[in-house]
Amino acid sequence: VIVAAGTAGWSRALLCACPAVSCTVATSRLLVNYQEPYRSQILDYLFKPDFGASLHILKVEIGGDGQSTDGTEPSHMHYENDENYFRGYEWWLMKEAKKRNPKIKLIGLPWTFPAWIGKGENWPYDYPDVTAYYIVSWILGAKHYHDLDIDYVGIWNERAFNSKYIKLLRYTLDKHGLQQVRIIASDRLWEPISFVLLLDSELHGVVDAIGAHYPGTKTVPNALLTKKKLWSSEDYSTFNDEVGAGCWARILNQNYVNGNMTSTIAWNLVASYYEELPFGRCGLMTAQEPWSGHYKVEAPIWITAHTTQFTQPGWSYLQVDGHLQGGGSFVALTDGLGNLTIIIETMTYNHSQCIRPPLPHFTVTPQRATFYLKGSFVSNPPFSEAPNFADQTGVFEYFINASDPGDHVFTVRQVVVQRPITWASDADQTISLIGNFKWVNMTVTCDIYIEKQRDGGVFVAGRVDNGGIYVRRTKGVFFWVFADGTYRVTGDLAGEEILMKGLSGVRDNAWHTLTLNIQGTSASGLLNGYALWENVTVSQPSNGWAAIGTRSFEFAQFDNFHIEAS
Ligand code: GAL
Repeated sequence: VIVAAGTAGWSRALLCACPAVSCTVATSRLLVNYQEPYRSQILDYLFKPDFGASLHILKVEIGGDGQSTDGTEPSHMHYENDENYFRGYEWWLMKEAKKRNPKIKLIGLPWTFPAWIGKGENWPYDYPDVTAYYIVSWILGAKHYHDLDIDYVGIWNERAFNSKYIKLLRYTLDKHGLQQVRIIASDRLWEPISFVLLLDSELHGVVDAIGAHYPGTKTVPNALLTKKKLWSSEDYSTFNDEVGAGCWARILNQNYVNGNMTSTIAWNLVASYYEELPFGRCGLMTAQEPWSGHYKVEAPIWITAHTTQFTQPGWSYLQVDGHLQGGGSFVALTDGLGNLTIIIETMTYNHSQCIRPPLPHFTVTPQRATFYLKGSFVSNPPFSEAPNFADQTGVFEYFINASDPGDHVFTVRQVVVQRPITWASDADQTISLIGNFKWVNMTVTCDIYIEKQRDGGVFVAGRVDNGGIYVRRTKGVFFWVFADGTYRVTGDLAGEEILMKGLSGVRDNAWHTLTLNIQGTSASGLLNGYALWENVTVSQPSNGWAAIGTRSFEFAQFDNFHIEAS
């Protein structure tokens, strides 16, 4: 099997993901004619969460009465004075998808347009207001007649885009209260759309994602410069045997690894068209015989599951070099709440070729891969403060140690270094409280980093009994370490009631782990996991919060705070 040499350390999650996937254009024609229970079974394999492909996105054709590869799909407006939102099977398909996964994202994209849009010309941009009205009507109809919220809309599949039209589309969407509908452009190549986005700031403002087709896992510098979401908005298109599955596995990972693409959309969803039509069986599974009920869950369904069952739209890719030394790739994603998914593929050259573009030769050898997990998977926090900490003197903020080798990249830092112009009697020390005032017994552990040389110092504390405007008179059990290599245990924040003191060997500008353990009337302290002091008698206070803080208004950092208390 897999996997070899190479170590990977990472720390930062940045790019937002909509990992996968699937697109239907006149390719689901026969699906709708399956008898039950087969039809529902097929839909379950495609859309049901934690079951089969568990797709995150469904992209459908906005039928335009014209041929789109394997057939035509009806327009909701055949003629200028015509309107009907019950034609074709895409409405039904979107509803079946939503029924199974209410969170599935929906995308609409036109391949063709009815003739009246061009008023006689084979071109949809001469009357951009007409085209925008036509597309926005489809989105409004989806909501009005089927209660479907369309998330993204595209421009014109693999044909020219027009900047004036895209801006007018945005304007028309907004005018109809569809601000939440995002625009993808231009479903062709990376250029010229990327270049034009860099030149036209108004256009840049209205395009939300750049969608490229069959990018061969690569992007271009201009696309990166736009800072837009980059998507492979159509890909795969390969016969759904084992090689097709290998293609799909490779590009699902490598579109991100090589090309920063955070979504990959397969053409097509399910091979539900007569096999002899163009690109027969180029769907994630096969259901092309409604008359017999036969269908086949092909390997690409299970390949998809590796990504879709273990991530969700909104997860972020960790920014690491995802190439494995012996060939193959990995991606790592987090939900920002502490969950991590790693997806590894080591598809070989012969078993992962896609229909296009040509694949440069490569080799994959047996290898062992070791993943070292460092830092935090909770990044880009929504607030500056760590959850539930309540600062009473000083301010404790999230901090990124860009130069840290990996253990303490995301920390909390006390940042007030001069006594503020006060309103109340702030303490001379800084302190942030957390927990339950009724706590009696507790073990508080925290990694600490003193930044101030010589007289800098930090503490962890328990049974902390005061705060607010009374912070100066706070009592508790305070375990201090100082930059001069000493430690103290005090019964108050002011540090006047000394219960114990001695040497610790703690230094400034180095990480140490403090543990404070209070049980009944006895307290003990550990430094880096080793006993430093014990059997200190504490009778007052009998209960209180946990806390962290510093000796003075000084920089100091805290990490991996942990309490067990009762
Ligand atoms: C794409 C096109 C699809 C289908 C596919 C076949 O370029 O958008 O509709 O024709 O190729 O590989």
